[in-house]
Amino acid sequence: MTLREIVYLPNPILRKKAKPVNKFDKDLQTLIDDMFETMREAPGVGLAAPQINLPMQLAVIEYAEGEDDEDRPEDAPPPEKKMFVIINPEITKVSEEKVLGIEGCLSIPGLVGEVERHHAIEVKALNRHGNPIKIKAEGWLARIFQHEIDHLNGVLYTDKATQVWKPREEDSNVELE
Ligand code: NI
Repeated sequence: MTLREIVYLPNPILRKKAKPVNKFDKDLQTLIDDMFETMREAPGVGLAAPQINLPMQLAVIEYAEGEDDEDRPEDAPPPEKKMFVIINPEITKVSEEKVLGIEGCLSIPGLVGEVERHHAIEVKALNRHGNPIKIKAEGWLARIFQHEIDHLNGVLYTDKATQVWKPREEDSNVELE
């Protein structure tokens, strides 16, 4: 596997609408594996193809639900990380309820911001083999999906943030996406 180079603002690819993927060949499988590796190395919880300079509707996500749950007993085994590949995704349902949370982006180093997102969503997409999938997500996972799907439309969290700031010490555990 190969680490891919992450691009930063003001690279114009981050502002373009990505193109649908229609070839699910060996090269795509390699690319997806590379994206997971690049995301873990960063480290981040999500990575969209435009962030590695590819205008493709493809994103990877890896997140353990409950990871940041304050009620989780200390001796509980760490929650299992779940991996998601979404290709040509579409948000098909959103909760009316919205929540504020702090986000950071691998393509916008040195900033975090507070963003309002839908608490729960449903996503229709293709998996890495081109088969249709439907994902229901809520909480932080729903937030990551919304952040990544925005990337595929040239939208950055800073467009939606109520405020952005340089991370302070208490922001050191903000997940990057
Ligand atoms: Ni991002």
